[in-house]
Amino acid sequence: MKLLFKERLAQYRAQVDEYINTISWNEKVLDKSMAYSLTGSGKRIRPVLALAAAEAMGANPEHILPAAAALEMIHTYSLIHDDLPAMDDDDYRRGRLSNHKVFGEGIAILSGDALLTYAFELLAAPMQVEPRRQLQVIKEVADAAGRQGMVLGQVLDLEGEGKALGLQEIEQIHRHKTGALLRVSVRLGGILAGGSEEDIQALSRYAAALGLAFQIKDDILDLESDSLTLGKPIGSDLKRDKATYPSLLGLSGAKAELAAKIQEAIDALQLLGERGRFLRDLADYIQARQH
Ligand code: IPE
Ligand code: IPE
Ligand code: MG
Ligand code: MG
Ligand code: MG
Repeated sequence: MKLLFKERLAQYRAQVDEYINTISWNEKVLDKSMAYSLTGSGKRIRPVLALAAAEAMGANPEHILPAAAALEMIHTYSLIHDDLPAMDDDDYRRGRLSNHKVFGEGIAILSGDALLTYAFELLAAPMQVEPRRQLQVIKEVADAAGRQGMVLGQVLDLEGEGKALGLQEIEQIHRHKTGALLRVSVRLGGILAGGSEEDIQALSRYAAALGLAFQIKDDILDLESDSLTLGKPIGSDLKRDKATYPSLLGLSGAKAELAAKIQEAIDALQLLGERGRFLRDLADYIQARQH
């Protein structure tokens, strides 16, 4: 990894973690459960994307920290629910027991609900940005997370279990269950920072390709990594007979698709020139990541 990139990535992550650490949790089980899943070895990719997109548009990323943290809350909620016995039934997440293994299924469901709601409280919090931009972002995040976005993707993913789906159908699942939140993360940064229409379109094209690539890589790691490195079980997709890129195309076919989507993401950034450097390097990092 390039040194400068590595340092910037660490700085963005530290900013997100510092913000999350300012949240005051109480001693009740709901707060304990929410805090348990929010901390741990998460990569913080969604908030990092938001901060980096804002900085690429010339804004101070500090100004959008609550919104960036909100993305991590929505993501964390999706992971808690994704691990439930009724969904992927996985016992480990972020290097420790899944939420429902510690707190029980009822609390796991409810802490997911509370993280999702808390995210919108943060998105609506006072920020040093134009109010109309903030409103646009609230709407876009709701769309990306909900019935036409991530939740729809999770439904399609469940319905796809045990079925031999085609490439277009698998792409649809991935674009919704994972791509939608990644895409809106980048847009959120760009929009809140006051980016031009043209720049935001370039960012969106980047993020759409990157979001798909991110889930293709996740599918590959599910087969090729080990649970210690990943912090979650491997072989989860085989266990549930999921429709994935490797299940349809084989590992080498999936890797070729991954490379093509990463290239597409990088190409989309051309317009930004030097301003897009970190986001370009982040695409390389996502292709190469080991967890
Ligand atoms: C895992 O996401 C679930 C997917 C949407 C692929 P991440 O790989 O970003 O998980 P964390 O946040 O680092 O734990
Ligand atoms: C998760 O996809 C997508 C979500 C919206 C959480 P996966 O089910 O492949 O994610 P992991 O592998 O459990 O992290
Ligand atoms: Mg899943
Ligand atoms: Mg899963
Ligand atoms: Mg997976």
